[in-house]
Amino acid sequence: MKERSVGNTVLVVDGGGRGATLVNKYAQSEYVERIIAVPGNDLMKINTDKPVQIYPQLKTTSIPEILEICEREGVNLVDVSQDNAVSVGLVDALQELGVPVIGPTKAAGKIEWSKVFSREFGVRQGIPQPSFRVCYSEQEGVDFLHTEPDQPWFVKADGLAEGKGALPAKSNAEAIARIPEMRRFKDAGRVYLLEKWLKGDAGREGEEFSTYVFSDGENIKFIGNAQDHKRANDFDEGENTGGMGCSTPPLALTEGIMRRVREGVIDKAIAGLNAEGRPYKGVLYLGGMLVSEGGQQNPYVIEFNARWGDPEVQVVLPGLKNDLFEIGMAIAAGDIKGLELETDGKARVVVTGASRGYPGNYDTVKGKRIYGLNEARKIDGVRLYGAGVKDVDGKHYASGGRLFYLVGEGQTVIEARLRAYEAMSIVFIEGNNLHYRTDIGWRDVARLRSDYR
Ligand code: AMP
Ligand code: GLY
Repeated sequence: MKERSVGNTVLVVDGGGRGATLVNKYAQSEYVERIIAVPGNDLMKINTDKPVQIYPQLKTTSIPEILEICEREGVNLVDVSQDNAVSVGLVDALQELGVPVIGPTKAAGKIEWSKVFSREFGVRQGIPQPSFRVCYSEQEGVDFLHTEPDQPWFVKADGLAEGKGALPAKSNAEAIARIPEMRRFKDAGRVYLLEKWLKGDAGREGEEFSTYVFSDGENIKFIGNAQDHKRANDFDEGENTGGMGCSTPPLALTEGIMRRVREGVIDKAIAGLNAEGRPYKGVLYLGGMLVSEGGQQNPYVIEFNARWGDPEVQVVLPGLKNDLFEIGMAIAAGDIKGLELETDGKARVVVTGASRGYPGNYDTVKGKRIYGLNEARKIDGVRLYGAGVKDVDGKHYASGGRLFYLVGEGQTVIEARLRAYEAMSIVFIEGNNLHYRTDIGWRDVARLRSDYR
């Protein structure tokens, strides 16, 4: 593939930290001359000397406008790694136009945008997952729960709900009380799942992990794993968020577990989608949970996502040594068989800097000045990716919930998190409005340090 010509333009469809990480990775390619991001964000330009053009007035679902940019700007590759864009068929539209694209079609991406499809597909393919019941009316769920022994559940909207569609319930009565909450998801919640709550070991919460692979529809290449921290506050308390931080590599994932992830989950998912006429081309993300059974830890599927995780991508992708443009073109051409992925073997920790109040109301933080980002990113072994940050003449202002991400790297998770937190410690938001977790990577720190046992 070395004959690939230089001077290419890549379009990344995303506006957050995930998009910033992808922009940075494409910018490292010798084949890429400039990058366009829709909608993009103000800090996407900081990690590269190559031109980065953003379209803040557009959305990731602005299909006609994105097609128009592709034609006008002669875009050579589009990276679609955003759930809404996949679900409205952006990849299909780009393929029709004849633009090389990395990302699944609407049909393949259904594995994320319909939780009911995903679970029924799991049953057809014999993929380990929680048992569930699909409900088409509120009454159906209530009647079903009256026939079940009392236990904890998740009530889950079928469609996309900005990551907020899974409601925990500790008993049948709680689950019954939560069913009407599906109404707030409108169409996405008309059909919903009642799903049994998976327990890990001795009734405790199971340890979660995420796994990332590239697929061209048939072949699979493992990229890496991460551990997300979804709750808003330390010690996994508070509401679920889009992600408050991640670490890689997760030490719980032994070779044996990874073999079961590969054979029992990923291989079946990619082969199954192909067999069902939905070949999956892009990054597939498994959100998994470890459950103890018969003396071993087995991976169960909490969810599949048709994209990179955010902020998981920020610890996994920088460790990939391959050229992402080459990978993208190979996926678009439907042939990654000969691709050999190489990683740098480093540990990484990313800490999310959020507005105080996130994921609830953070309106009063909007427009407040953020101090210290330029100093934080100068620290050795640290990288900054922006999301909800406005840059006005080099000064930074809050403009969202998750604002920015600081990634530290090192030989171990302990070293990586020291760097990330050193960087975070010099960032402030006017009025004490910065919120971040102080315990990202705690599971593996506890594994590595005897005084936690
Ligand atoms: P989701 O929106 O499906 O990603 O779910 C959000 C979080 O809820 C997951 O990261 C898990 O921590 C938890 N969760 C979802 N479904 C289950 C389940 N069936 N058993 C245990 N935990 C779950
Ligand atoms: N960090 C979780 C997600 O991207 O869905």
